[in-house]
Amino acid sequence: MTERHWRIVNPGGSRRVVVTKELPGLRWLQLLTAADCRVEIAQGDDILGRAEIVAALTGHVDAAIGQFTESWSAEMLGALSAAGASVYSQYAVGYDNVDVAAATRLGLPVGNTPGVLTETTAELAVALTFAAARCIAEGDRMMRAGAYHGWLPGMLLGTLLYRGTLGIVGAGRIGAAYARMMVEGHKMDLVYYDVRPNEELERSVAEYADFLASRGERPVTCRRAKTLPALLCACDVVSVHAALTAETHHLIGARELAAMKEGAVLVNASRGPLVDEAALVEHCREHPRFRAGLDVYEHEPAMAPGLAALDNTVLVPHLGSASAWTREGMATLAAANVAAILEGWPVWGAARGLADVLPFLEDEEPPHAAPSIVNADDLGLPYYAGQAPTKEDQQ
Ligand code: DGY
Repeated sequence: MTERHWRIVNPGGSRRVVVTKELPGLRWLQLLTAADCRVEIAQGDDILGRAEIVAALTGHVDAAIGQFTESWSAEMLGALSAAGASVYSQYAVGYDNVDVAAATRLGLPVGNTPGVLTETTAELAVALTFAAARCIAEGDRMMRAGAYHGWLPGMLLGTLLYRGTLGIVGAGRIGAAYARMMVEGHKMDLVYYDVRPNEELERSVAEYADFLASRGERPVTCRRAKTLPALLCACDVVSVHAALTAETHHLIGARELAAMKEGAVLVNASRGPLVDEAALVEHCREHPRFRAGLDVYEHEPAMAPGLAALDNTVLVPHLGSASAWTREGMATLAAANVAAILEGWPVWGAARGLADVLPFLEDEEPPHAAPSIVNADDLGLPYYAGQAPTKEDQQ
């Protein structure tokens, strides 16, 4: 193995921050430099393994910024804590790769980057939905292969989604943003499945329904399904937006796929293991009218055998948050979490959806707060003025 090159920014800084991947933009480095940090950034496109990260954590380390592609297990967090660190910040909103319970036991705050990728990821899910429903990837392959020999009435017939029924599994930030794009853009009726009702989403769909009615158009509807099968059998599109946990692993398997409509579209821009990928391959093979749009994979970056050969799937490489604005913003939030904890500043309510993250991204002088610490409540960290979660938020 050739030795890894580390880019060092602000070499004279008194606090050492280890960053496992180069991040876009400059603002994140300005924040860390202002907090007197020496920033050590691993170079290269390969994913750092456990041994290499642990080796980077030798000597004194004040903080680490890591990736969702790395396993921040109890052992790794223990090594980080033993090196003297007081915070771990993840360059992602999802943190299923981080043992948060272990971090909490070690007294280590865990940061993430919510808010800045909501619309970007929702737009990618919309793109996958239409690409799958309208045979965009197949058409693209046909053109490039020189196989388009003239317009035919029956060629690559897709599914019209306008006024159809949309199902979302998980109605958090990204699921709700995607739902609104599909409902307000294409007048789809919405069915959602979530352990918690999303009253704000229900209200916004009701307001849109009133608007349509005021123009003499048929209103759209919104309902929360009591069970997942009740949603699956009713929808033309099912998009998965749940967090990955032990309970949601293989949430969509052979039985759930069988419950879906013959010509339905399944979209997953959340986490691969939510869908049993081998079962999906089998289902797509047996049901050529069924379509799937995937951004994430069960054993990422690998794909289940047979998936790539299926014409009724559209496959992209985990592009959900891949817009320049979002990826730079994610770097800013990850760095702001580190800077704030090192400076002893309170927590901004973004992790609980209590406050917008825009001031961190746009204000000349960002708030003196950590944008999002997922275990802030368990660690008893103080909140920024007026942002402490209420009893209702805690439920
Ligand atoms: C996340 O943030 O969790 C994504 O999967 C990467 O943007």
